[in-house]
Amino acid sequence: MTPSDVKATLSFSDGSPQMDLPLYKGTIGPDVIDIRKLYAQTGKFTYDPGFLSTASCNSTITYIDGDKGELLYRGYPIEQLAVNCDYLETCYLLLYGELPNPSQKEEFVNRVTHHTMVNEQMQFFLRGFRRDAHPMAVMTGLVSALSAFYHDSTDINNPEHREIAAIRLIAKMPTLVAMAYKYTIGQPYVYPKNDLSYAGNFMHMMFATPCEEYKPNEVLVRAMDRIFTLHADHEQNASTSTVRLCGSSGTNPFAAIAAGVACLWGPAHGGANEAALNMLHDIQHQGGVAKIGEFIKQVKDKNSGVKLMGFGHRVYKNYDPRAKLMRETCHEVLNELGLQNDPLFKLAMELEKIALEDEYFVARKLYPNVDFYSGIVQRAIGIPVPLFTAIFALARTVGWIAQLNEMIGDPEYKIGRPRQLFVGATARNVKPIAQR
Ligand code: SDX
Repeated sequence: MTPSDVKATLSFSDGSPQMDLPLYKGTIGPDVIDIRKLYAQTGKFTYDPGFLSTASCNSTITYIDGDKGELLYRGYPIEQLAVNCDYLETCYLLLYGELPNPSQKEEFVNRVTHHTMVNEQMQFFLRGFRRDAHPMAVMTGLVSALSAFYHDSTDINNPEHREIAAIRLIAKMPTLVAMAYKYTIGQPYVYPKNDLSYAGNFMHMMFATPCEEYKPNEVLVRAMDRIFTLHADHEQNASTSTVRLCGSSGTNPFAAIAAGVACLWGPAHGGANEAALNMLHDIQHQGGVAKIGEFIKQVKDKNSGVKLMGFGHRVYKNYDPRAKLMRETCHEVLNELGLQNDPLFKLAMELEKIALEDEYFVARKLYPNVDFYSGIVQRAIGIPVPLFTAIFALARTVGWIAQLNEMIGDPEYKIGRPRQLFVGATARNVKPIAQR
């Protein structure tokens, strides 16, 4: 980061000593005001619940321009990556900063492929869950449990440990998600097949059975791979910030990623794709397109607590570029499956059209985000709704790891420790219970 020649001057109306604060420039995006010395020099904290105006770190990985609707992974626009690269190339880019050449890609794919199996003991963790347990409850447990198997790669400050833990997590997430799925439907687990692509292997572990040969449909495999790419990373979102803060204590990478899985589960975050599809189902059951007006009225009524799931974003105040790509993938998959007239997809497009013309949404800069269409694509591929967020976690694992490793690799990093504005009771004495 580059020191700016502009300074910020903080002065107080009560005549307290003013203070100059340095500014730093990034390569793109807003400058930052360095407040690291603020408390020491003024005895005051800044106040920013939800960190809407706070840069928690400097990063070279992902950049979002919310007004332009731009998303760059290591400088490459998501539109170009989604069309020209596959997910493992994107993983390589996020982890190492550059797109791989053919031999680098082959070596990376080979390493990931040969780490896709999990220890046979892992299956016994699943037996502790009810068969109808939510897959994200299972995944939070399984990812954390990985730390019990890899004592040779849990020292987060050891670069080799970080590297092999990254490969293991990227490689094993599809296996664990597929196991979580098979467990809920009472089918046997399917082992990874090393002759399949990353997404093809995932589809095989999800949908193959011992009874017959399963040949993944290449259009669906490509769509799955694109879904992974579109969800791979997204700056300092809630789950990534969770992983950074968790990892800053020096805990092992598996535990830090498990914390990210737990955070992503929330409906305001990664759980939105499941919530968006359930919302579309509800409108469908109430009468479909004819009922959209009524639903939109509910959304505008603050007391209803109803939100248009899959719309709005903390950063994008323009169209989420991933939503556009996801809608294209929707078309491809539905055409491939002869579902062009899929009522849910038609309902989603009508709902999007109405919302984008409605003053309530326009005034609040609410546009479809990545979650609005991803549920429709996944449902068409045959993914059960409760598994959507687990697939989001599978895809986002590389982003979490890249961000965690960037933080740990920064010699300046310290354990995260936000402060607070205390508005509770001042010191008081405990009365014996007989006097209370
Ligand atoms: C993801 O951070 C990331 O990068 C996340 C993510 C990633 O890749 O990691 O992109 C993934 O989490 C995408 C977002 C998925 N969530 C949803 O689709 C759930 C529905 N969306 C909302 O919960 C909401 O839009 C948020 C939480 C996503 C963003 O909230 P903001 O930016 O803080 O917006 P806000 O809550 O300040 O809302 C501004 C106004 C409010 O109305 P007013 O009080 O001004 O009258 O817009 C309203 C909100 O009530 N509003 C919505 C709405 N989202 C915001 N009204 C109806 N439906 C919505 N979806």
